[in-house]
Amino acid sequence: MIIAFIGDIVGRPGRKIVKQHLNSIRDEFNIDFVIANSENASHGFGLTMKNSKELFNSGIDLMTGGNHTWDKKDILALLEIEPILRPHNYPSGVHGTGVFKTEINGEKLAILNLMGVYTMPMVTNPFICAKDEVVKLREDGYKNIFIDFHAEATSEKRGLQQMLKGQVSAICGTHTHIGTDDLSIQDDTLYVTDVGLTGCRDNVIGMESTAPIKKFLTGLPAKYDIPNSCKSILQLIVIELNDGKAVDGFKIKVYDEGKPQVVQKAFREN
Ligand SMILES: [Fe+2]
Ligand SMILES: [Fe+2]
Repeated sequence: MIIAFIGDIVGRPGRKIVKQHLNSIRDEFNIDFVIANSENASHGFGLTMKNSKELFNSGIDLMTGGNHTWDKKDILALLEIEPILRPHNYPSGVHGTGVFKTEINGEKLAILNLMGVYTMPMVTNPFICAKDEVVKLREDGYKNIFIDFHAEATSEKRGLQQMLKGQVSAICGTHTHIGTDDLSIQDDTLYVTDVGLTGCRDNVIGMESTAPIKKFLTGLPAKYDIPNSCKSILQLIVIELNDGKAVDGFKIKVYDEGKPQVVQKAFREN
């Protein structure tokens, strides 16, 4: 089975470049299932009903979230009716779930969405949550397990990788919006600290630069906005899975109207 993961899709420019390129990338690389983090898909903050439809129609099968999941009120209904996850380590009783189970060509696949702790809302311990959930999934016969770990701290992401390598198929980081170059496979688990955003690339993490610069210069709050026009990027990780193991992985980037380029192959650590 071949799955793909797109990191944080930011605003209309992010949705637009996904719409332009994703279906042809799916065909070219024989991708069976596409996961994407949509916490910033609607004007940078949250996800609306309309934009979720647009993204599902663009070739995405399942969406994950993070600290911005709750920014648009539509999410409460969306979590009930659509294949959309929020981090699993929110306390029990919170809307939605962070686990999705499916079957692709007769093979079971589970997706787990988690959120880190450093600079994040108060959630339960993601490491204990991950450990418990992976045990449950494996007992239920799910060997193909993909994790979106939405976290600020690189140390938390590396910690999860070291704790779960060999037990899950892939751990891909999101939230920082800046892609890292450490795509690797260790003990059959694919890992990257952050996939990087899909959206505007010539500003501050997908947002128009004026407000963040003002905030950094003064310490005062500023209203962040998506640029009206920008240079855009689509970034995704493609992962080939076999019996729960990541056997191959690579990163694809598309700049603006250009062609998809394989920019990095996962380095095999052993
Ligand atoms: Fe984000
Ligand atoms: Fe985030």
